[in-house]
Amino acid sequence: MGVYETPVMRLKGKQMAVVPEIRDAYLVVEDGVVAGYGAMKDMPAEISAVIAAPSADAVVEDLSGRFVFPAFADSHTHIVYAGSRETEYEDKIRGLSYVEIAKRGGGILNSADLLHRTSEDELYETAMQRLHQCVEGGTGAIEIKSGYGLSTEDELKMLRVIRRMKETAPIAVKSNFLAAHAFPRNFSDNHDGYVDLIVNEMIPLVAKEGLADFIDVFCDEGFFTVEQTARMLEAGAKYGMRPKIHANELALSGGIQVGVKYDALSVDHLEYVGKAERDVLRDSNTMATALPGAAFFLGMPYSPVREMIDDGLSVALASDFNPGSSPSASMKFVLSLASIKMKLTPSEALNAATVNGAYALGLAGTHGQISKGLKANFVITKPMPSFAYFSYSYTENLIEKVVVNK
Ligand code: NIG
Ligand code: FE
Repeated sequence: MGVYETPVMRLKGKQMAVVPEIRDAYLVVEDGVVAGYGAMKDMPAEISAVIAAPSADAVVEDLSGRFVFPAFADSHTHIVYAGSRETEYEDKIRGLSYVEIAKRGGGILNSADLLHRTSEDELYETAMQRLHQCVEGGTGAIEIKSGYGLSTEDELKMLRVIRRMKETAPIAVKSNFLAAHAFPRNFSDNHDGYVDLIVNEMIPLVAKEGLADFIDVFCDEGFFTVEQTARMLEAGAKYGMRPKIHANELALSGGIQVGVKYDALSVDHLEYVGKAERDVLRDSNTMATALPGAAFFLGMPYSPVREMIDDGLSVALASDFNPGSSPSASMKFVLSLASIKMKLTPSEALNAATVNGAYALGLAGTHGQISKGLKANFVITKPMPSFAYFSYSYTENLIEKVVVNK
């Protein structure tokens, strides 16, 4: 079982290698809160008494051979969307790249067309189904972005769906306003005009309804420039929206630098990271979040996360669950990719997906860890020979139960 005596805010560099562990442990949950834990041999007499004679209001479960670890904090998803994009998946198989598909009007614009024709109720139903898939896969807190609206009306529609999900989901949900995901067709020749619309119309309306915890921009080659990103982040900051942005997926775009400059909570993707980028991240409050599911699905380079951790940085992992570049809820598979493709140890990958994921969600110290007094949010595995087996056996369903509370 992985536990923290005192909740930690985030883990950096070498700290990421250690998951504090109690073997042969007991765990007590009362009213959805972790009330105690420790080694079986140190178990207090009153707990042994409950185990010896369980009553109707004290459920006892024998978890011999299982592992218990914190539920994942998935800090980057796009699970509100309409339809699916397997046609583009086939285009990719035939050789087109993500950028080529986007240039032909596919990609994000394709999802925006589908979303425009879909009602708020239907979007809510399908997104909740995906959220339940995430929870079944061990996710205990989640961030959800807008960004398939690309007009004032449809961005607000998406954010209202996310607000409903916040109210009804069994886990904590954070919302991220991502109108700057792509340029809509009516602004294809007037990119700054779309940025004006976001700054002057959308941000104030989103803020008025209190619909967004964060603001996001796809700051990358061929998408939003550093200057446009700075304008939008500055406008969002006036309304208390902290940046969590897409950066450096396609090039050394300057996205990391502009994110850190505006005190982003996280910069995400980071397939392209050099020394200059590592240097600005090192003493910042910004989490470096990698999304190996997208690199896997698109056949693109993986983020150089090993180098970043060795250089003392703090790294998180998230699913990027979306219809175009990562159609998967599985954080277990993200751990496998992190180890197999990015050379993180299973413990580093777990810390990145739990403690550091919670930081990147704005839930540091309350989620992504098991600690006394915190809400009970954890994964119970099936019997396994070791913790490393969980991501090693990369297609086996090894989750027996997920306990969540919000
Ligand atoms: O995080 N890179 C930008 N946005 C998404 C993909 C969205 C899509 O293709 O629908 C991402 O990978
Ligand atoms: Fe994304």
